[in-house]
Amino acid sequence: MHTLLKRRHFLMGLGALTGMGAFTTASQLRHFNKLVPALADSSSIALAAEVALHSSARTKGLIFGAAATYQQLSSNKAYANLFAQQCGMLVPTNELKWQELRPSPGRFNFTRADWMARFARSHGMLFRGHTLVWHKALPNWFASTVNKQNAEKYLREHISRVAGHYAGQMHSWDVVNEAIDLQVQRADQLRNTPWLRFLGPEYIDLAFRAAAEADPQALLVYNDFAIEHDTPQAEAKRTAVLRLLERLKSRGTPVQALGIQSHLFGHPDGVKFTQIRRFLRNVADLGLQIMITELDVNDQQLPRDAAVRDRAVAKIYADFLSAVLDEPAVIAVMTWGLSDRYTWLANRKPRGDGGGLRPLPFDEQLRPKPAWQSLASAIAQAPSRSSQPGLPIPTRFPDIQGHWAQGYIQALADKNIISGFPDGTFKPNAPVTRAEFAAIVTKAFPKASQNNPSIEFVDISQSFWGYSAIQTAVRRGFLVGYPGRIFQPSQQIPRVQVVVALASGLNLSSNNTNVLSFYQDAAQIPNYATNKVAAATQRRMVVNYPTARQLNPNRNATRAEVAAFVYQALVDAGQAQPINSPYLVRV
Ligand code: XIL
Repeated sequence: MHTLLKRRHFLMGLGALTGMGAFTTASQLRHFNKLVPALADSSSIALAAEVALHSSARTKGLIFGAAATYQQLSSNKAYANLFAQQCGMLVPTNELKWQELRPSPGRFNFTRADWMARFARSHGMLFRGHTLVWHKALPNWFASTVNKQNAEKYLREHISRVAGHYAGQMHSWDVVNEAIDLQVQRADQLRNTPWLRFLGPEYIDLAFRAAAEADPQALLVYNDFAIEHDTPQAEAKRTAVLRLLERLKSRGTPVQALGIQSHLFGHPDGVKFTQIRRFLRNVADLGLQIMITELDVNDQQLPRDAAVRDRAVAKIYADFLSAVLDEPAVIAVMTWGLSDRYTWLANRKPRGDGGGLRPLPFDEQLRPKPAWQSLASAIAQAPSRSSQPGLPIPTRFPDIQGHWAQGYIQALADKNIISGFPDGTFKPNAPVTRAEFAAIVTKAFPKASQNNPSIEFVDISQSFWGYSAIQTAVRRGFLVGYPGRIFQPSQQIPRVQVVVALASGLNLSSNNTNVLSFYQDAAQIPNYATNKVAAATQRRMVVNYPTARQLNPNRNATRAEVAAFVYQALVDAGQAQPINSPYLVRV
């Protein structure tokens, strides 16, 4: 009760502030400092865990996420956990840029990006692509290889290979990044990039069309920076970006969203975000969605004292988010990293006074800062979005986090094959009835090839909720051999029957039952099941927790186990990517 009250109190405190204009005087800044609690005390750490940004965002139909690198997520367990806890979407910082994907003109290396896609999927996060076309992060071979004659071929090939590789898995793609440059002497203010020099302004249209072809499901984004603050330069750039988007739309180019990078900065005189509101409206009026794609606040010019600085940064987060989240077309907020430990700004220009930069919602020790509170508060105050374009926001069950079958359960939930309970949990260790299993298997395999005669079971009436699923599962060959037409729909299904059902539906059988010797308890496999279990084993459909060599054939299957078996059956049927697990039997 105590924490809850405290949380409400400060969320409200901050909320009241989000509507205020920028601080222009030191006294206003002091006032704000008093309202925001001291940074990183233990209650704010507990609070951040309790009120994960992605889950509060989700209740508003919003996405919260962040950028990370393979290196950070794979080497720092605490960071990976924090990331999974707070974020509903992951964007690789560099791993999808040309430089990292293309070691040579003919080779693509997806290893790291694929690892990140799996990390996102197994933690119930969306995955986002950055970026297909950019003038930076090009590989060394680019300049000596790509020219006017072959540029179109290279661009098309890149987009079809890369966007095609992740087709169906990407929430959104930054198709073109940073194409506007106010310094150039061109009416359209298109940046002088190799693509512009080789292909002319149409390179942008070409890129969007190629991306739409390669991945029709991803939201296609034009992404740019320095269009946030109330400055004349930013206003000029907003105008140039808007003109570009208008031209693209008028040509029928499939651009679907604007990404606003939002690398904000603090200034001793304070900063404001009033002009951006009209811009957002104009962008939305073009029929485009808007994403905040790379939010952070450069605190280079703010006072050295960390607590003072954190509050000033938090104020900028609050003011900016209140402006952008008021616009219903804004569907997502992504920060460029989650912790100051990994801010990209540190490598660019350190503070002159030796103090580390503090631009992100968590400090170097992964403790939430006032900027985190601004995010939490702004999300809590944001009006609800009715529906989200792009891939659906995945459901995330609290009771499967860290569970051995998390990846399998999440993947099936994302495919809408299984779902949780009304209280939001999944109950991975609960048993599964035969009727429930029939419902899962018919959803998982909507197009099975067999067409067996249906059976009217004596113990299932047509009004039973599972009637049609059971009928379908029988016709598709998943449920076989019911003497006396007795189904027993409410009986819990044992593991061996799950395996036999899946092998039957997929038409698998094997005379080579030698593989069964892998199981220490092979003797317990009923005779009728040996050929099917052998086939399923060979085809990597069997997952045994906690001991791979213990099949426990006659034990009732849990929901987690059914998810693992069904998922691996989908893999066997070529309808899903394998998920590795120490419990997956490989013989
Ligand atoms: C940055 C990364 O964070 C750095 O690690 C890398 O060295 C350079 O690129 N706008 C963008 C991002 O669109 O791709 C940039 O990311 C930050 C600015």
